[in-house]
Amino acid sequence: MKFNKRDTIFLLIIAAVILVLVVGTTERTTKAVPDNDTHKNVTSREQCMACHSAEGVKPQPLGHPKANQCFQCHKQPEHWVGGKNK
Ligand code: HEC
Ligand code: HEC
Repeated sequence: MKFNKRDTIFLLIIAAVILVLVVGTTERTTKAVPDNDTHKNVTSREQCMACHSAEGVKPQPLGHPKANQCFQCHKQPEHWVGGKNK
């Protein structure tokens, strides 16, 4: 298959669109974990889920990811006992 100039331009546009999408999704858009007394001292997922499971005081939204690493998506509290951002 041979590429002419129009094909090349077309491919470049596609590449640019993909790049924008990929860069866009790496941006953190989830809410940070509040830096308050409730959250600063929590170090296990079990503790998080005691309040954020469906029966908790503030359930995760419907369709929330089942992932366990809360801090991977929700920025950990500024003064978290576990230490600085990793
Ligand atoms: C003792 C109960 C409790 C525990 C434990 C707890 N939370 Fe929360 N969380 C709350 C309550 C209540 C709110 C809503 C009010 C607030 O902002 O503090 C909340 C709010 C949040 C929010 C949303 C903030 C916003 O801006 O709406 C996130 C994200 C969150 N918690 C994550 C976590 C994670 C991750 C853990 C474990 C490291 C955790 N929570 C542990 C009670 C808890
Ligand atoms: C794969 C990414 C991801 C992981 C891991 C994750 N969450 Fe979330 N969480 C989200 C998204 C996306 C939302 C909804 C959008 C937003 O919060 O801005 C959300 C929303 C929430 C909310 C509701 C915030 C509000 O006020 O609307 C709570 C509470 C919460 N998550 C708790 C947790 C806890 C606790 C854990 C760990 C067990 C966890 N999340 C792990 C992505 C994630």
